[in-house]
Amino acid sequence: MIIANWKSNGGLMMIQDWTSDFINSCSPKDFYVGIAPPVIYISDFSLLEWDLDTLEERSNNKIWDIKIGAQDVDHSSGSRTGAVAIKMFEDFGIDFAIIGHSERREHFNEDNDLIKQKIIALNGSNLKTKILCIGETKEENDKGITKDVLKNQLEVVDAMDLENFIIAYEPVWAIGSGLTPDPKDINEIHKYIKDVVQSTSANNLVPKVMYGGSVTDKNAESFFTEQFVDGALVGGASLNGKTFANIVNIYSSTK
Ligand code: 13P
Repeated sequence: MIIANWKSNGGLMMIQDWTSDFINSCSPKDFYVGIAPPVIYISDFSLLEWDLDTLEERSNNKIWDIKIGAQDVDHSSGSRTGAVAIKMFEDFGIDFAIIGHSERREHFNEDNDLIKQKIIALNGSNLKTKILCIGETKEENDKGITKDVLKNQLEVVDAMDLENFIIAYEPVWAIGSGLTPDPKDINEIHKYIKDVVQSTSANNLVPKVMYGGSVTDKNAESFFTEQFVDGALVGGASLNGKTFANIVNIYSSTK
């Protein structure tokens, strides 16, 4: 599973260039690939779907479809200026939602209580895949309390319909910094996350865990070859269609 999180980047011209760069560079694949553009550009991706349909015919029905997702959702609707309700994403056939991103936690003061409300609102929605981001800050990492921080952030999983939830481990200090943990350390943390969620889950479900934080087409292979890394959530490197396609292709050849 490879997801592009464009954050508050991009524009109409960029989408056109990105689309042709991506299509010209991406090989057929049989796993989940998604893009979460800024919400105002979501409908512009119909062009991308059209082009990918054409390609599907040329590639012996290998899966080409790209899922479109929400970078965040509001847990409610009505008198909430600036918010985008889940049912509005449903109207556009949106397939997945990211919640709990560290930028939401930091800049918009989102805490476990609010994230839990989003989880409950998403459980019954038509957005099939839900991605919960967790991760420790540099200070927490330095103090050696990463696992405690993650365990606290994972307290919300008791509200989840776990079959459709994926966890994204994104160390805050790795986001946009060019720094990453050692792949072996990422693998160990992913195993820890799977164990914590499995022990919380009524039917012992083990979630998929993606890694995010300064993933590029240069370092992606070192993460994807680790056993417990089930994909990547890509920020900066996903803004270039060719680079994002390279990451998708690397995942295809390593998993
Ligand atoms: P970067 O890939 O730019 O570090 O961002 C990661 C991220 O926050 C994805 O959600």
